[in-house]
Order: sequence, then C-alpha cells, then structure tokens
Amino acid sequence: MNDPTNAAVTAHSETLKVWDPLIRASHWLLVAAFGLAYVLEDDFLTLHSWAGYTVAGVVAVRVAWGFVGPRRARFSDFLTGPGKAMAYFLGLLRGTSPRHVGHSPAGGIMILALLLSLTGTALSGMATLAEEKGQGPLAPYIAHQTQTPEAREGDEEGEGRRRHKKEGVFEEVHEFFANFTVFLVILHVGGVLLASQVHGENLTRSMVTGRKRP
Ligand code: HEM
Ligand code: HEM
Repeated sequence: MNDPTNAAVTAHSETLKVWDPLIRASHWLLVAAFGLAYVLEDDFLTLHSWAGYTVAGVVAVRVAWGFVGPRRARFSDFLTGPGKAMAYFLGLLRGTSPRHVGHSPAGGIMILALLLSLTGTALSGMATLAEEKGQGPLAPYIAHQTQTPEAREGDEEGEGRRRHKKEGVFEEVHEFFANFTVFLVILHVGGVLLASQVHGENLTRSMVTGRKRP
C-alpha cells in the first residue's frame, strides 16, 4: 500500500526514504558473512567461526532495531499472522496483491524465519565448536567430546575424522540449520524477484539505495 505519511519525501527526487542505513548495512553484511561461513564449511575454522559470530552480532542488532528503530524497521510495521502472509503470497502469484512500501506480510514472515534460522545456525555452530574442540563461548556449558579410541585408530587409517564427525549431535543440528537457512534464502530471493516483477520495481536496488517510488 502506498503510505508515504511517515516517510521523508526528498526535495531533489520524488522517491521515499524507506530503508535506513542500519537496515541496509546489516542486510548486506549478513549476506557476506553468512555466504563466507557457508562456503568455508569446516575449513579455516577460525575465519568460519568469526564469520558466524558476525552473523550472530548482526542478527542481535537487527532484532533490537526491530523494537527501537524507525517505523519501517519495526516488527510492528510488518509482522502479521501466517494467514495474511499466505493470502498475500497467493495473491502475488496471481498478480493481484497490493504493493507495500515497507515489507509485505509474506516478506515479514520470511524475515522472521530468516532471523530465527540464522540464530539457530550461529548458536549450533558455537555448540559444535564447544563439543568438538572445547572452545568458544558455549564451552563452559557443553561437554567436550574427546575422540574415541576407535576413531583414533581409524585416524591412522585415514577414517577417524569421518567416524569422529558422525558422533557430534550439535554438528548435525548445525548442518541442518545452515542448509535450512539456504533453503529460506532461495525462497526469499525468489519472493523478492517475484514481487519486483509484479509491482514493476527493483526491490534489490532499494535495499542498496534505501529508496523507493511512492
Ligand atoms: C544470506 C542471504 C540473505 C539473507 C540472510 C537475507 C536476509 C534478509 C533480511 C533479514 C531482510 C530484512 C531486512 C530488514 O528489514 O532488516 C531481507 C530483506 C531483503 N532482502 Fe535479503 N537476505 C539474503 C539475500 C538476499 C539477496 C541475494 C537479495 C537480492 C537478490 C536480497 C534482497 C532483499 C530485499 C530486496 C529485501 C527487502 C524486501 C522488501 O522489499 O520487503 N536478499 N533479507
Ligand atoms: C552463521 C553462519 C554459519 C554457517 C552458514 C555455518 C555453516 C557450517 C557448515 C555448512 C559446516 C559443515 C557441516 C558439516 O558438513 O558437517 C559447519 C561446520 C562447523 N561450524 Fe559452522 N556455520 C556458521 C556459524 C558457525 C559459528 C558461529 C561457529 C562457532 C563459533 C561455527 C563452528 C563450526 C564448527 C566447529 C564446525 C565443524 C568443524 C569440524 O567438523 O571440525 N559455525 N558450519
């Protein structure tokens, strides 16, 4: 819905300021840090972990901003029930859903899902680090799993790492969350492209410039 009431209309152009700098910076930082952690997998574990901590930090800041930030950043501006989100999504497929200047009901639910899944990925990563290496912020709370003699024996045969990897519950949870987040990201980007097409605007560019037509 076109609702320019609270958005600043700039003198030099007829566009609305919609996404504040924190929203935009945190979005593209999330993309970079999550992407880096994902492609590194368990190689370069220190860099992998720091990329993951970056994700956790950005998500925490974004969640706080959802309560205290400007109107378009607030959860209260875009979080609706699943029924409304589904109706909006089905309407989008038919090309009938109205345009929103802020996040749409379907976009809002996706943002919540992404933030939750990113949190799960980062926390389970910290749990994996504690379980496997006895390191990281969760190390005091999670038992460090030392390698079994069988795994050590297998190590000599080059199989220990694989066997050892099978044992970590948190690593499996971590892998699940990482892949589930990727699944959500694919839906998210698909939704962005679909809504851009239906409403004749480039939503990705708006996430860079912060601006949209009224
Ligand atoms: C790791 C990958 C990604 C993650 C975790 C992610 C996450 C998010 C989150 C959390 C938001 C909400 C923004 C906010 O209000 O703070 C968002 C919005 C948005 N994202 Fe992404 N995103 C990812 C990839 C992408 C990519 C690749 C694109 C571009 C093709 C994109 C385009 C957008 C757009 C346009 C919005 C605003 C949607 C709207 O207009 O309502 N995202 N994303
Ligand atoms: C939030 C973004 C993150 C993504 C996308 C991600 C992704 C992954 C993936 C795909 C793997 C390989 C899983 C497997 O094949 O078994 C992995 C392993 C791992 N991750 Fe993450 N991770 C993230 C954050 C973190 C964080 C914050 C930590 C710890 C501080 C962490 C620690 C680990 C550890 C310890 C492993 C297992 C390494 C090994 O087997 O030796 N990750 N991660």
